[in-house]
Amino acid sequence: MKEKMLKLFRQVYGDDSGVRVFFAPGRVNLIGEHTDYNGGHVFPCALTLGTYAAVRKRADKKIRMYSQNITRGNIIEREYGDFSVINKNNWSNYPYGVVWALQQKGIYIDSGFEVVYYGDIPAGAGLSSSASIEVLTAYMLRELYGFDMGLCDIALMCQYSENNYNGMNCGIMDQFASAMGRKGHAIFLDTARLEYEYAPVKLENKKIVIMNTNKKHSLGTSKYNERRSESEAALKAFQTKLPVKSLGDMTIEQFEEYKGLVSDPVHRKRAKHAVYENRRTIQAYNALAANDIKQFGRLMVQSHESLRDDYEVSCRELDIMVSEGLKHEGVYGIRMTGGGFGGCCVSIIDSDRLSDITKAIGSEYEKAVGYKCDFYTVLPGGGPAEL
Ligand code: GLA
Repeated sequence: MKEKMLKLFRQVYGDDSGVRVFFAPGRVNLIGEHTDYNGGHVFPCALTLGTYAAVRKRADKKIRMYSQNITRGNIIEREYGDFSVINKNNWSNYPYGVVWALQQKGIYIDSGFEVVYYGDIPAGAGLSSSASIEVLTAYMLRELYGFDMGLCDIALMCQYSENNYNGMNCGIMDQFASAMGRKGHAIFLDTARLEYEYAPVKLENKKIVIMNTNKKHSLGTSKYNERRSESEAALKAFQTKLPVKSLGDMTIEQFEEYKGLVSDPVHRKRAKHAVYENRRTIQAYNALAANDIKQFGRLMVQSHESLRDDYEVSCRELDIMVSEGLKHEGVYGIRMTGGGFGGCCVSIIDSDRLSDITKAIGSEYEKAVGYKCDFYTVLPGGGPAEL
């Protein structure tokens, strides 16, 4: 991949002297969805898929960015210090937001740079291509300019950038998973305390399979922000009687006893999901540690049902994928993953039956939806690195 990136750099900028190549991963969340901004637990792993950058400093203050995935021949050039958002949907707002966020934190770079990005994560699939380009940018700038920032702070800074520069009020999960990934492990993260444990993912004779509905999660940001404020409204109602800091602080028993405090039925459903999903995530972590994949799979399915019915972030395509998956005995668990409204499912499938099962799901999905889905068998990968 290093050679490929250097070649790309040469094609875009003429020569590759002094160029360095970096990588940061995307992520898939096994369970614990829409719990991160609610102070609950999440259980993602970094992927071996992600985003690559070939980069070098410039002598002037220009920042030149090129994406092999999107712009196809179009270099986006800015002057360091001009932090206006180019236009709302331009991909370069993600990496440029990181340059902005660094400055907000008092970290100034002493020159411009030129960079080529290439990602092998499908965009808009809910596998955190945006977090991966953010973490990659922060990491490569740290290596290039030599400032002091740990990986956990990189994750927080990238979240800050996405919240404040890109207007997506995301939680910490994606940036954390990308920055802190460890090969062969999932990350069990308590988002309220930022305490985490690496859980070995040992799935004898089973595989983690991501199923891409190929429905882009385009309405994502506004609906996402709406869910977040609905959860916050529910929390406020609980706080009139309970000394809790977040929905993640609440037990199921507390929720059931005090749910009448939340008068809006929609807000109540949102809170129900957040509280129960947090419990499921803790149970799933224990199930994985006990190597009880059947139980892990059951929790994944419950998670999907709750995201569909109570949190209402699923969509027809994701639901079809899940119900087709559940027709097969070799599917231990399956659920939507990521923010929702399109994107991917994650599943655990028996290795021996994998190819038959994906063939069957693929053809039923196409019949029902009218276009194809894609399958990726994945392994938990490591965090950012220089190649
Ligand atoms: C998106 C956000 C995350 C998280 C998930 C839902 O991926 O970026 O912070 O909230 O949705 O679990």
